[in-house]
Amino acid sequence: MKQQGAILWLTGLSGAGKTTIASCVAQELQRQNYQVEVLDGDVIRTHLSHELGFSKQDRDINVRRIGFVANLLSRHGIIVIVAAISPYREIREELRHTTTNFIEVYVKAPLAVCESRDVKGLYAKAKAGQIKHFTGISDPYEEPINPEIICQTDKFTIEQCVNQVLHYLQVAIFL
Ligand code: ADX
Repeated sequence: MKQQGAILWLTGLSGAGKTTIASCVAQELQRQNYQVEVLDGDVIRTHLSHELGFSKQDRDINVRRIGFVANLLSRHGIIVIVAAISPYREIREELRHTTTNFIEVYVKAPLAVCESRDVKGLYAKAKAGQIKHFTGISDPYEEPINPEIICQTDKFTIEQCVNQVLHYLQVAIFL
């Protein structure tokens, strides 16, 4: 039977753990011989959305672009794993309705935890006023209301969060 595509859309604050969970889920699915593609916000912004900044308008364009590519790939049976802050609820809902098998994964950690991790040193810069429109500091993040999955990365290990996603795919969808 041909593999069915899906879009696992990981949304959450910078430093919440989206990229880590995305790559671990991808690795495990690949190990099981599924066709997978990861679309990571940082990578997309380097290649496909290079000219965009972080205003609401630019973020919306970026998120729509990612959704467009994700939809193309998933239509061909690929499991697409997106890791993007995608802070605006309305546009995530738009994608839910214009794509198939859209699975919203809220990668959730309190702002204080993300700030303390500060993997890229961006929170420090944002708080010092060196980066404008920084999500959680000087720009909004609108939490999902009814996400299919919530990964609480401050309470559970990465492995537990990854298993939670894989379990959802197995039971509720089609794997
Ligand atoms: S989104 O809002 O358009 O979905 P996206 O996930 O593509 O954002 O990019 C976020 C990444 O850009 C962050 O992981 C961070 O490394 C970097 N970045 C640079 N400036 C900002 C900012 N003002 N707000 C959030 N992230 C920023």
